[in-house]
Amino acid sequence: MTIEALRAEDVRKVYHSRGSPDVEALRGVSLALRQGERIALLGRNGAGKTTFLRITSTLLLPTSGRIEVFGHDVVSAPEDVRPMIAVVPQEGKPFFHLTPREQVYCYLRARGFSKEVARSRTEAALEKMGLGEVGDRLSVTLSGGQKQRAMVATVMATEAPLMFLDEPTIGLDPFARRAVWDMLRALTRRGSTVLLTTHYLDEAEALSERLYIVEEGRILFEGTAEAAKRQIGGTLRVSIENGGNHRELFASFGQTVAEGASLHVITEPERIHEVMDVALRNRLSATVGPVTLEEAFLTIVGRSIDAE
Ligand SMILES: Nc1ncnc2c1ncn2[C@@H]1O[C@H](COP(=O)(O)OP(=O)(O)OP(=O)(O)O)[C@@H](O)[C@H]1O
Ligand SMILES: [Mg+2]
Repeated sequence: MTIEALRAEDVRKVYHSRGSPDVEALRGVSLALRQGERIALLGRNGAGKTTFLRITSTLLLPTSGRIEVFGHDVVSAPEDVRPMIAVVPQEGKPFFHLTPREQVYCYLRARGFSKEVARSRTEAALEKMGLGEVGDRLSVTLSGGQKQRAMVATVMATEAPLMFLDEPTIGLDPFARRAVWDMLRALTRRGSTVLLTTHYLDEAEALSERLYIVEEGRILFEGTAEAAKRQIGGTLRVSIENGGNHRELFASFGQTVAEGASLHVITEPERIHEVMDVALRNRLSATVGPVTLEEAFLTIVGRSIDAE
């Protein structure tokens, strides 16, 4: 039997603030995560990702809808949910008057782990996040990326059954980013479930088994990165230099997207020869590359903006 780590049904959130109009941050979000999945929420700034994570992690009440974490209702039974979750908040900072070692250790002790377990997990997390050398320095003296590493180390050390990570790798160097990916993969192999947000689409692709694209408080797309790319009509992109004025030549090969003077044609491998032929005959230079998740994202969200 597959266990559901998270189920959200028709979650809505309206922010009321005095003197300014209401903000409908979530307009009916439904999703489900199976235990052990790594799922990414993608969306433009203001799409509603953080609002959703704050609601599912019991920090904010929804206006309506139902959310269950391992079968426990987050609104009526938050105290049952909290021991099962851990959160890396967006723009969270470690306690400035604690060292990373103290921060991770104290957090684990506060969550009820024995001294022995807390000690060994603290050392392992600091080591994995490359905080060995700065583990005993006050957090206030750390660099931005080191602070972020300390936040991630704190949460990952809990090995909580369900982890919410809101832009966990923001400001991290490429080595630290990969260390986070490795840790998340290891955690899900051991049964934890991960819901993260990121604006790095290479990260979403490398890390998540499925993704949800959120736009204006609604889910626009749900599926794998591959499926998102297929949805835009092809797996290859031919970029034609100065092709902007020759759109009609290429329109029959698939979706065409202008970018400055260039024209991108999204198409399938079988049609590449024909596209290149047409480009050559018109003395246009063209390069072929794979469609990226970023292009799929821009197209899927762009279509929805156009439709508004
Ligand atoms: N406390 C609040 N009061 C009023 N409006 C809010 C509040 N918090 C968020 N919002 C609004 O709700 C919408 C969704 O915000 P949210 O922080 O969930 O977006 P996000 O997808 O996390 O964006 P980002 O990628 O920039 O982090 C935005 O329009 C935002 O301005
Ligand atoms: Mg956010």
